[in-house]
Amino acid sequence: MATYPPRLSIPWTRRIHRNRTQITMRRVFARLEGLYYKLMKSLLKTSKLGYGLVVSGAESGTNFEHIYDAKPQGSHIVGRIVDRALLNLPSAQATRARKEQIRKFLWNEIHNNRLLGKKTRVLDLAAGTSRYLRELSEEHKKGDVESVCIDRDVASVKLGSIRCKAEGLTNLRFVRADIFELNRLRNFSNRLKWRANVVVAAGLLMYFNDRTVETMLKEIYEYLPEHGVLIFSSLERLEIRKLMRKTMSVSAGGAWVLYDRTPEYWRDVLFTAGFREIVIMRDRWQLQNVCSARKP
Ligand SMILES: C[S@@+](CC[C@H](N)C(=O)[O-])C[C@H]1O[C@@H](n2cnc3c(N)ncnc32)[C@H](O)[C@@H]1O
Repeated sequence: MATYPPRLSIPWTRRIHRNRTQITMRRVFARLEGLYYKLMKSLLKTSKLGYGLVVSGAESGTNFEHIYDAKPQGSHIVGRIVDRALLNLPSAQATRARKEQIRKFLWNEIHNNRLLGKKTRVLDLAAGTSRYLRELSEEHKKGDVESVCIDRDVASVKLGSIRCKAEGLTNLRFVRADIFELNRLRNFSNRLKWRANVVVAAGLLMYFNDRTVETMLKEIYEYLPEHGVLIFSSLERLEIRKLMRKTMSVSAGGAWVLYDRTPEYWRDVLFTAGFREIVIMRDRWQLQNVCSARKP
């Protein structure tokens, strides 16, 4: 007499067995992966940059100051070796390259304005320690440029101010504030009785979605006077997305989420916002872009 299900009983049991094996394998791989990232986290924490990225807030300006210094530090020799490796990653090299590019854009603007007898006033949004501005020390000392650097992170504002003092810089000040709580840039400037003709937003726009970015661009455009300039950086490609997601976190405690964007995107939204003379510089790794755009 025929049994039910006919002839299917053997493939069924095989299929169930295969599924069970697959599930077990997947669990083993997930555990191994978890263990790998746990080990990576512990190893990263031995280095100064790794500790900053994993524990004290990946996006902090103080981490970026260490990337710019590029002097390996860590606990014992292992920490220093890990730090050296992190500081040599293409993304760290690209961060140093973008700082140089921003400094060059600023230097050109300051010297062109000088020819016209105009003072350059820079508002640096999410400034961190504003290394690119601090490196223009001669221009600040001569009074060709005045800068206001805003950041919400106490440690970055403190480090920026300490280094400013040590470098004998004048005409550059750090203010602790959240850029979203400035009650519009124009009101903030009115309170300071000071209005910028250059706005810098470096290492900032990659944290926000397109809608927020486009609203920010509009507000900056409205704020700038005629011929004013916006200089900002953007991520074109992320090199270590998975490692970042699995091991690093921001100061607020969440995962480090970054938005990467193409030069075509920027050209389009800047033009739509009204900006002209759009210049986009790509680094040699095509990881980060530095953009400059002028209000006509
Ligand atoms: C990647 S760092 C960039 C620092 C600096 N601009 C540079 O390029 O070297 C990002 C900085 O943005 C600051 N930041 C992020 N969101 C902010 C906000 N809403 N208001 C003020 N600062 C903010 C962080 O505290 C951090 O110092």
